[in-house]
Amino acid sequence: MNFQVLKNLSTNPRNLVLLINIKDKKYILKKDNRIESTILEKLNGNNYPKLFKRIKTNKTSFLIEDYIDGISLSRFIKENGPLDYSKIQEIAFKCYLCIKNLRKNNIIHKDIKPSHFILSSTNQEIFLIDFDNSLIKSFEEPFEIDLFGTKGYTAPERYQKELYFESDLFSLGAVIYFLATGKHPPEVNNKRKFIYFKYLISKISSKSIRQLINKLTYYNPKKRIFSLNNN
Ligand SMILES: Nc1ncnc2c1ncn2[C@@H]1O[C@H](COP(=O)(O)OP(=O)(O)OP(=O)(O)O)[C@@H](O)[C@H]1O
Ligand SMILES: [Mg+2]
Repeated sequence: MNFQVLKNLSTNPRNLVLLINIKDKKYILKKDNRIESTILEKLNGNNYPKLFKRIKTNKTSFLIEDYIDGISLSRFIKENGPLDYSKIQEIAFKCYLCIKNLRKNNIIHKDIKPSHFILSSTNQEIFLIDFDNSLIKSFEEPFEIDLFGTKGYTAPERYQKELYFESDLFSLGAVIYFLATGKHPPEVNNKRKFIYFKYLISKISSKSIRQLINKLTYYNPKKRIFSLNNN
């Protein structure tokens, strides 16, 4: 197969996430840990990159997926600053739908953060990317083997090696905190830091946004819900 490499998009120097060109169309080429291509195949596009091809060499597997033309939420906020209340609600709801649909497919993303949501420039849809660390929950599998995730966006129970579908909801609450403040949330790996996070949330001026974040970031995973209200 013929392709040209345009650039490496990974911020991790040990990772390769290549933006490539095949017949005038852009794609992403990255190492495949098998889970990621399985998940992309299962999700089959919609608000996730569609799997284009698997490539197997002797040692390593790669995957090629669609490139989503747009801007990540982290870059979007860096360029535009924190968002107003109605824009946050609109974007947060689209992010939530991406996560909700994972649950139907028994998938926990495990690395929800602003740079993994792409706001598409063609239709303003939100796409969720990077299933490198994700998990397909099955009865045979142990729930959490290792702790991967991004500081500030990782749910507190994960530091105790517990993982639930609702762990992704906590991360979504942390993403919404970033949309509202332009600041990354603090790491929440114990009760004391959790209380500090709650204090920071209390300083957000919109009551509806505070409530939205608070309901997503309960310490108890089973209490977490996505709920918008308009007062
Ligand atoms: N399918 C895609 N469509 C559009 N942009 C993408 C796609 N995949 C990756 N990117 C861009 O490349 C960046 C890095 O990709 P990815 O998160 O998969 O790599 P990574 O090595 O995990 O990097 P990081 O440690 O920053 O998460 C993303 O934040 C995103 O901006
Ligand atoms: Mg990533």
